[in-house]
Amino acid sequence: MSDTTTQQTGYQAWLEYHPIALNQVEQYAGYSGIVCTEKEEAIQTAVQELSRGISKMLGKELAVSGNGEDKVVFALGTFGGGNALVDRTFDEGTRSAIKAEGFAIKTDQASGSLVIGASSASGVLYGVFHLLRLISTHQSVNKLDIIENPVNMLRMINQWDNIDGSIERGYAGKSIFFENNRITTDLTRVRDYARLLASSGLNAISINNVNVHHWETKFLTEEYLPDVARVAGVFRSYGIKLFLSVNYASPLEIGGLSTADPLDPAVREWWRVKAAEVYAAIPDFGGFLVKADSENRPGPFTYDRDHADGSNMLAEALKPYGGIVIWRCFVYNCKQDWRDRATDRARAAYDHFKPLDGRFMDNVILQVKNGPMDFQVREPVSPLIGAMEATNQMIEFQITQEYTGQQRHLCYLVPQWKEVLDFETYAKGDGSSIKRIVDGSLYGNRFSGFAAVSNIGNDTNWTGHLLAQANLYGYGRLAWNPELSAEEIAEEWIRMALGGDEKLVSVVMGMLMDSWSIYEAYTSPLGVGWMVNPDHHYGPNVDGYEYSKWGTYHFADCHGIGVDRTKAAGTGYAAQYKGKNYETYESVENCPDELLLFFHHVPYTHVLHSGQTVIQHIYNTHFEGVERAEQLVAKWASLEGSVGELVHKQVADRLAEQATHAQEWRDMINTYFYRKSGIADALGRKIY
Ligand code: GCU
Repeated sequence: MSDTTTQQTGYQAWLEYHPIALNQVEQYAGYSGIVCTEKEEAIQTAVQELSRGISKMLGKELAVSGNGEDKVVFALGTFGGGNALVDRTFDEGTRSAIKAEGFAIKTDQASGSLVIGASSASGVLYGVFHLLRLISTHQSVNKLDIIENPVNMLRMINQWDNIDGSIERGYAGKSIFFENNRITTDLTRVRDYARLLASSGLNAISINNVNVHHWETKFLTEEYLPDVARVAGVFRSYGIKLFLSVNYASPLEIGGLSTADPLDPAVREWWRVKAAEVYAAIPDFGGFLVKADSENRPGPFTYDRDHADGSNMLAEALKPYGGIVIWRCFVYNCKQDWRDRATDRARAAYDHFKPLDGRFMDNVILQVKNGPMDFQVREPVSPLIGAMEATNQMIEFQITQEYTGQQRHLCYLVPQWKEVLDFETYAKGDGSSIKRIVDGSLYGNRFSGFAAVSNIGNDTNWTGHLLAQANLYGYGRLAWNPELSAEEIAEEWIRMALGGDEKLVSVVMGMLMDSWSIYEAYTSPLGVGWMVNPDHHYGPNVDGYEYSKWGTYHFADCHGIGVDRTKAAGTGYAAQYKGKNYETYESVENCPDELLLFFHHVPYTHVLHSGQTVIQHIYNTHFEGVERAEQLVAKWASLEGSVGELVHKQVADRLAEQATHAQEWRDMINTYFYRKSGIADALGRKIY
């Protein structure tokens, strides 16, 4: 094991650039330098990244020059940007196939030089990271002829960081952006984060929590704008646009106005002036992210206005500068009476937004969570996505594992996201999958894409659980190309972050690919969700939210469990789906097992498609889930020596904790349902 591996902490994540084995280095022996003629910032970043990656993997320092036509080199640049090698290598057909942020990579057959061409500086940077990925995953670069364009226009990360340094739903330490009510002065770590984001394909970030409190509201003022601009500068060098979450009530809170009514001329003027000030400080500012009328945040409802009025007012202010408003659809009644069975939180986003279709300006994008509730381990796909033909939409995922083990448990989320993206909505007949709605192609939207809540903090390895890095990486890769498989992404991450030992790759791959299903097995069954401790959301508590105001119930009694969301007899939520989806979910016979309790209230003796009763399924999955969590510990233990000691210990500790906590889940859930139902486990296992 090399020294670098022994000392590896996880800080470099997938940019570890493990040294390439000697027998493979030969193919790169001839490369004598980097040829680049352009000075633009993101291209200079690309050059630095290429030199750094090559130096770490191949142990060779490459000189950078403006000319190297007669040598074997790495050449990079924009089409027509002055690099003769780039211009010679790519024909008209290739150039016109490359979109704004895409790139081409070609091995020059005559010289063996590797040439990266793009139509923009950020395209060149993405091309460099792609080439480095090929080298670090030991793929041949001999006959490359690659054309890549990102499938999604916006590929965004949402930080839920607060100015005091805390992170809402953060499980990996404190904020890297803020400390002591100021923006961090040393931005080294922010720059390293920008590298990680750009290398996975992301191009946008909002740096503060969607719940914008007192001090963060002031980000739009002179007191903070220069610091925000410094952060924007760091991200700019990696081709990433900066956005801010804004407080809808800003005109009241920092503007000295007596209202935030979106139709009030003084309020509109206030936002216009604000936008001008922000763009004076940050000319390429992305726009505003807004959580309004949601979980006690202010919004247009206060003034009897709707979400179109609210978002359009902001959109109008940003429009002259090309800015956009990302408006979240996580709007529901969070003061519900648990006795009221007619109100259904799952319905809320669709009920609020669908009637507004067509009323939003073209620089407004609605950001919709992947499911109708809140990032549960299992819930159906949000029926709002695709339901608004005349409105820009993007999807929101949660990389931070709020309800999926909080980075203390292993849960590789890419398979879950893939299921969502591949889901057929029938919005415009067959071929209307979620991924075609969020990439804008189904309805020809002007703006569209992906957003996700970040899972990083200032822990050395970024994500607390080292293996949770695969979620951050995987999110970026999927946003770039939703056709990549969960296995392909996992393999890339393992090889780049941990190393290319074949046993290592296959064992970690197996662990990652099983992990979502393991977590689901020992937590909340059959799509019912929740059953967690209130507030912090970690650990089992079956009735934790049962008599609360949050609209999150399972309705378990001595006969059965589940929420009747049918049109025929329940809340009618199932009717928000189109065509076959409605028919499938409405029918207790056809509803898939994994979502049964989301859509139906059934007796414990109801027989699932699997042939098991609901109660026996609960017992079986909870016993098996713990066994499978224990197997994760053993699998990882078998890798001792093939990854660095620190890394090995870090993950081993988390997996041990997971196995113990899984027992707590198993015993609480099984005991609860045994006591409720009075039905014993058919296999006579220990229940308390
Ligand atoms: C969840 C989460 C909150 C968050 C909210 C949101 O409810 O628990 O912390 O603010 O989602 O997405 O706005």
